Amino acid sequence: MLEIKQLNVETKQTHKPILKDFSLTIKEGEIHAIMGPNGAGKSTLSKVIFKNPLYHIVSGKMTFNGSDLTCLETDEVARLGLFLCMQDPMVIEGVSNSDFLREALFSKTKERVNLYTFVKEMTEATKQLSLRDEMIHQPINQGLSGGERKKNEILQLLLLKPKFLILDELDSGLDVDSLKKVCHVLNTYLKENKETSVLIITHYSRILEYIHPDYVHKMVDGTLAETGSLSLAHQIEQEGYQINEHTKEQFHE
Ligand SMILES: Nc1ncnc2c1ncn2[C@@H]1O[C@H](COP(=O)(O)OP(=O)(O)OP(=O)(O)O)[C@@H](O)[C@H]1O
Ligand SMILES: [Mg+2]
Repeated sequence: MLEIKQLNVETKQTHKPILKDFSLTIKEGEIHAIMGPNGAGKSTLSKVIFKNPLYHIVSGKMTFNGSDLTCLETDEVARLGLFLCMQDPMVIEGVSNSDFLREALFSKTKERVNLYTFVKEMTEATKQLSLRDEMIHQPINQGLSGGERKKNEILQLLLLKPKFLILDELDSGLDVDSLKKVCHVLNTYLKENKETSVLIITHYSRILEYIHPDYVHKMVDGTLAETGSLSLAHQIEQEGYQINEHTKEQFHE
């Protein structure tokens, strides 16, 4: 599904190298997790997939179901079915949650959803996520707490029904009960959409206890240093990010 090969990325303005020979393949229905120290390049990876103009792809390959992501615009990447749950969702003044999502759905399906049906579906999603339903008609993320903004990202996901989810530190800002609830909602979505793949970026194994990863990767200095199972996440939590040659497993083909 997603194939990244030997990707080298630098910042456009300062030419600072961030991703260094980064390779990762995620097949249909697989769940992968990336853990790594602050500044390792995890969020940059997600931004590069979504073609953030601050970054320049120096070399390498990045395809999604055969489409070359390196020559697409952000909206085209989204239309392929990729979705990014951002680490720091921002407030967008003047655009209501309902207008934004209805427009995004139209852009995806080219069909206008009946307003009544749409608001009903959105209300249902707010209930599932314990969000106040007044937010539906309010500007995106305005007046929402950090954790509520994360829930709003998941609300967007539920309405847009993407095929590939990138969750960048979804767990940061969510309290223990909210994390459990959001993961339950996501697991239900994944059960109903078995072909969906997930890339979870996290610092803690707790989210991985709820959404079980097939692979856990350790990312250090812009590249994957180690790949393993959930036990690697536990090991990282106990030992930190020192490279352990004995437990090293090669994931690259
Ligand atoms: N636009 C930019 N201009 C300059 N430096 C940048 C830019 N974007 C990212 N960086 C740098 O690249 C490195 C990787 O940043 P990134 O946000 O990807 O880290 P991260 O792994 O997501 O960290 P965290 O765990 O703290 O979220 C950092 O040193 C950061 O300062
Ligand atoms: Mg980050």
